[in-house]
Amino acid sequence: VHRRLADPSAGGRATTTRLHDLLVSELASTVTPRVLDAGCGLGGTMLHLAVRLHGRCTGITLSADQAATANAAARQLGLAGSVSAVVGSYDTPPAGPFDVVVAIESLAHSPAPDISVAALAGVLAPGGMFVIVDDLPDAGAAASSDLATFKAGWRCPVLWGHDDYLRAFDGLALHVVTDRDLTDDTRPRALGTIRILETLNRLACGVLPFPGLRDVLRAHRGGLALERLTRRGLIRYRLLMAQRR
Ligand SMILES: C[S@@+](CC[C@H](N)C(=O)[O-])C[C@H]1O[C@@H](n2cnc3c(N)ncnc32)[C@H](O)[C@@H]1O
Repeated sequence: VHRRLADPSAGGRATTTRLHDLLVSELASTVTPRVLDAGCGLGGTMLHLAVRLHGRCTGITLSADQAATANAAARQLGLAGSVSAVVGSYDTPPAGPFDVVVAIESLAHSPAPDISVAALAGVLAPGGMFVIVDDLPDAGAAASSDLATFKAGWRCPVLWGHDDYLRAFDGLALHVVTDRDLTDDTRPRALGTIRILETLNRLACGVLPFPGLRDVLRAHRGGLALERLTRRGLIRYRLLMAQRR
């Protein structure tokens, strides 16, 4: 479900698997890791890490549908012994310990990132790696109405920035080993296209009678706001890795 990134192995075309390749190369020295995927979505990342790092992966998601899809995919690929997803909150993660905790585009949704990050750091084994990939707003983003539209549409009530994570890592005795800005590899649409899609979105919102569909459109509008924030450099898509001492 995560962002597509320009992928050298696909001739520069943006793929969702590019992020997996980056993670695998960053974690290459970790042997058969015990992995917690915090906010695992449909489980794609776990399946990759299970195959490529021989990891034993546990995923946690708020969505029963997502957990069922992830578990069915693991069964289908013969990976049920090494990949499983459970329904729950990453604020109360499985006890672990885990060699790797990965949170891709999931902590953005936390209403209390200090609690979520501390809870996940707490299940890391000594020397374990906390990997976060997310949209991190710069200080200048607050002045843009797009930030509020994005946060409301995607249900990101708090949305920590880069400095917030670094401060939290410091307080939790986590040592930053990788801090990469992946924004240039994302492919947000052109500003003109975003504007046209927003107009269509508003028109559709005005005529649709169902609140559920309006929610979907609000999420879509949030995504468009995110694309503009990304184009303007006000939100950066970053990979942070911090190791427990
Ligand atoms: C945008 S999806 C990203 C999914 C996945 N990490 C990926 O890369 O495809 C956000 C995920 O975060 C999960 N999530 C949000 N808040 C959560 C919480 N408090 N506890 C567990 N999962 C959460 C959602 O259930 C969803 O699976």
